[in-house]
Amino acid sequence: MRFLFLGDVVGRPGRIAVQERLPALRLRWQLDCVVINGENAAGGFGITEAICDELLAAGADAVTLGNHSWDQREALVFIARQDRLIRPANYPPGTPGRGATIVEARNGARVLVVNIMGRIFMDALDDPFAAVERELAACPLGEVADAVIVDFHAEATSEKQAMAYFLDGRASLVVGTHTHVPTADTRILPAGTAYQSDAGMSGDYDSVLGMQKDEPVRRFLQKTPGARLEPATGPGSLSGVAVEIDDATGLARAVWPVRLGPHLGEALPGWA
Ligand SMILES: [Fe+2]
Ligand SMILES: [Fe+2]
Repeated sequence: MRFLFLGDVVGRPGRIAVQERLPALRLRWQLDCVVINGENAAGGFGITEAICDELLAAGADAVTLGNHSWDQREALVFIARQDRLIRPANYPPGTPGRGATIVEARNGARVLVVNIMGRIFMDALDDPFAAVERELAACPLGEVADAVIVDFHAEATSEKQAMAYFLDGRASLVVGTHTHVPTADTRILPAGTAYQSDAGMSGDYDSVLGMQKDEPVRRFLQKTPGARLEPATGPGSLSGVAVEIDDATGLARAVWPVRLGPHLGEALPGWA
């Protein structure tokens, strides 16, 4: 099974990159399943129902979120009727939406997608380790699920690596999101789980984390209120991770970083 994960879509450049490139990539790479983090898709802050529908129409099978889940308030409502949009599983009980979903891949495989959020340098939340354990207990790899994808939305690479080893052998891929910068540690862990600390963003890299540069730079120089952050407007890149998942075990046979666009060195999966 050929799987592609794309990191945080930031604003219009990220959405255009997905819409212009993903449909062709799905065909050319014969992708069976695609998951995209959409927490910054709407002007850099959150996601609307129309934008979620756009990402799904462009070829995503599921969309994940993070600390910006509710920046667009309508997400609190439409997430209830969109079961392919998930938010971190370790929000407190009673939070709208769900933290995991099962999608059917093109090859018929049942893919469990789980979204969790870290607690180091982030808002206080419930324990992400306990939350992912509960989701896996309900839908274990090799029994209910043919593949398991975990998007761990977190700041600290220590917490991400600890999560990866906690899940090694029980997930097909553990991939970090949130920092908007791709890491160079793409690998398969000893028990067969593919891992990359951060997928990077899908957006304009001539920016600070996808946003126009002037205001973020100013905020580091002057601690006074200023303008709103706005997404950069240049051409967007796609950034993420590609995994070849063994149909029998649900574990990773190969994993590659994916970077396509004008600003980062290009990286392609082995099947490209
Ligand atoms: Fe993000
Ligand atoms: Fe985030």
